[in-house]
Amino acid sequence: MTVKDYIDTNDFTKEELLDMIELAISLKAMIKANRYPQLLKDKTLGMIFQQVSTRTRISFETAMTDLGGHAQFYGPGTIQLGGHETIEDSARVMGSLVDILMARVDRHIDVANLAKYSAAPVINGMSELNHPTQELGDLLTMIENLPAGKKIEDCKLAFIGDATQVCVSLMFICSKMGMDFVQFGPKGHQITDGGLQVGNKIDLLAIGQKNCEVSGGTITISDDIESIKNADFVYTDVWYGLYDEEESGTSYMDIFYPKYQVTPELMALAGPDAKFMHCLPATRGEEVVDEVMDGKNSLCWVEAENRKHSIRAILAYLCPVAPEDTAAADEAEARANAVLAKIGK
Ligand code: CP
Repeated sequence: MTVKDYIDTNDFTKEELLDMIELAISLKAMIKANRYPQLLKDKTLGMIFQQVSTRTRISFETAMTDLGGHAQFYGPGTIQLGGHETIEDSARVMGSLVDILMARVDRHIDVANLAKYSAAPVINGMSELNHPTQELGDLLTMIENLPAGKKIEDCKLAFIGDATQVCVSLMFICSKMGMDFVQFGPKGHQITDGGLQVGNKIDLLAIGQKNCEVSGGTITISDDIESIKNADFVYTDVWYGLYDEEESGTSYMDIFYPKYQVTPELMALAGPDAKFMHCLPATRGEEVVDEVMDGKNSLCWVEAENRKHSIRAILAYLCPVAPEDTAAADEAEARANAVLAKIGK
């Protein structure tokens, strides 16, 4: 293993990511058969959340318990991170107190700096740029639900709507795998319009295109609905700009509705067997309607469960587990026992 942290799937090869998927599938099957491999026995995960979370928090915490470890939750405002203690100093300290860290941050640069200065591995639990643990869970869901006779490389994913960090992440993982990726979204909300990292523009599309050169995948960004035809997977995310509506004065409903709402008609245009995916939480009645979310082709519930199964694999893959140094442990134990005997314990 050459990469310490899980900040961006572009830091890993396709083979490494597929190894994580194989680990996720096998651990999922073992645990469903009621065998809990104690791969992270006595290890502690520190979980930094600068934003709220349901799926990511519960998945990390449960995954640690499943593997014999423990997770600590540090919610918004509960630790000194980036306040009067710098991120660098916090990272040095926290990286010496726990075995592995995860962070959901407001600014990507903060999770990158946590990784840079922490001795313990750091996992990106979502930033404004990408959502790499969602990516691996989504890859697991697609691989478990491949159309008959197709490999993952043969599949097409159509993302509908705003270029959220989940949309960008899907472009990364699809292009890495050699899939055909489409973003069907309005101008001004396309991947090529995003990529801000604390004021610096990152060419996200160029990263995806570089992946395609290696994998043979394709990327299409379009506001033409014809681009979604023959998609195996149709994916959407919230038009989260809605929460900024008051501040920006922009009506996101005017921009996205009804053209980019995932309806049975849009699904039919993609193809009769197209599967529906959503990272959740969804705003029912906005980016997707009930008939699709709750329909027979919806994968969004298994996709949510797969967050836990894939996160187990990421933790097991990254968390350092050294063999016991028996001689050093015996000597230290004898010294501790001498003190305990002296005080009558
Ligand atoms: N999909 C996702 O990351 O969900 P949460 O925000 O609930 O963690």
